[in-house]
Amino acid sequence: MSPESARVEIIRRDAPGEAGRVDVFTVPFVPDKTVLQVLLDLFGERDRSLAFRRQRCNRGVCGACLMRVNGQAKRACSTPMMPAMVLEPAQEGDLVKDLVVDQGGRDILGNGIS
Ligand code: FES
Repeated sequence: MSPESARVEIIRRDAPGEAGRVDVFTVPFVPDKTVLQVLLDLFGERDRSLAFRRQRCNRGVCGACLMRVNGQAKRACSTPMMPAMVLEPAQEGDLVKDLVVDQGGRDILGNGIS
């Protein structure tokens, strides 16, 4: 039996090395939803300041949505959501904001940037 809700912790910073904060969200657990779909829902319904990479290929190919999910590098568009998730940027040193790292000018969703 699947849990009815999932706990999503997002490590948020505005710059590399900043102490930042952890935002915690409780969302419905939908096993066939991806991590990226959860982020899109959170952005659309709960927090318009959340920054993460907008989907590009949405097939796990381009790497635009790469981030750490529970400590492991994963492509958010092809990783199923889990009942408990800690989401962090892929590389702290190249951090732009929240889950966005510098990838050479790709689009950013959130914080008024699109
Ligand atoms: S959007 Fe291309 S790998 Fe996720």
